[in-house]
Amino acid sequence: MTNPATPVQGPDRYVVFGNPIAHSKSPFIHARFAAQTGERIVYDHRLAPLDGFAPAVRAFIAEGGRGANVTVPFKLDAHALADTLSPRAAAAGAVNTLRFDADGRIHGDNTDGVGLVRDIETNLGVPLAGTRILLLGAGGAARGVVLPILDRAPLSITIANRTASKAEELVGQFMQAAHDAGCALAGGGAEVVRAEPYDVIVNATAGSLDAALPDCDPAAFGASTLAYDMMYGAQPTVFMQHAASLGARAADGLGMLVEQAAESFFVWRGVRPDGAPVLAALRQALASH
Ligand code: ATR
Repeated sequence: MTNPATPVQGPDRYVVFGNPIAHSKSPFIHARFAAQTGERIVYDHRLAPLDGFAPAVRAFIAEGGRGANVTVPFKLDAHALADTLSPRAAAAGAVNTLRFDADGRIHGDNTDGVGLVRDIETNLGVPLAGTRILLLGAGGAARGVVLPILDRAPLSITIANRTASKAEELVGQFMQAAHDAGCALAGGGAEVVRAEPYDVIVNATAGSLDAALPDCDPAAFGASTLAYDMMYGAQPTVFMQHAASLGARAADGLGMLVEQAAESFFVWRGVRPDGAPVLAALRQALASH
């Protein structure tokens, strides 16, 4: 029998905000994490109006929400809304994780970059220390991963972008951090790509969405290169197919999705779930559709 004087505490509530959002895999991932760790949470998806992100977040807080993930197109709105920012969210200029703290403040974090790094190092087994890395693209996705990659002490990062000036801007932003990490950082247009294999090539352009390949010297892909596309789908992306045709090992961004979720879970709960079994389940679900 429950004592009527003791209010029964329900599970803590989280959502992912986006527009569109119905097909988000985050509820599946977090339900698995909750089952795996025994944390009492429920996690749903929530459509926010394109011009109404902040009111949607405030409404969820008023309902007792404890935190949220944020996806396209609200990561900049979330950055603007947060009262406090983690250093990695400040550097990314974008927020994918909100935590609603007991003092009423909204904490903004960005777990995308750590998600990428953990997928590459843990799931794919490629330690980044001492490696030569080529980052294709200089938009929001690229900006968000530079600091977490630098944290792993690579030998060099080269940023190549269709619009050279945007790559040069990123180099300017991260030059000091790269210097502190002992990493050589350079960037510009496609001409900055060296004609010899990189250890890791990360496609952070939006090109895969419309099946466009970013301009890149084919000699950058070798037999020991990991070519990583941040995008994913049921089929290998054009970038992955291109990399494989040049003899490189290709990977998609499904593991990054799982690992950024694991890091968000950690930000909220202080418990770090194991991404690998959830990634395997998600991969199986993706293949059977
Ligand atoms: P995101 O937040 O996904 O990074 P973004 O900030 O709009 O989106 O950046 C998109 C990135 O993909 C940019 O680096 C863009 O290159 P430009 O800076 O030259 O626009 C790159 N991109 C998009 N379509 C591309 C294409 N067809 N070929 C090469 N690069 C492309």
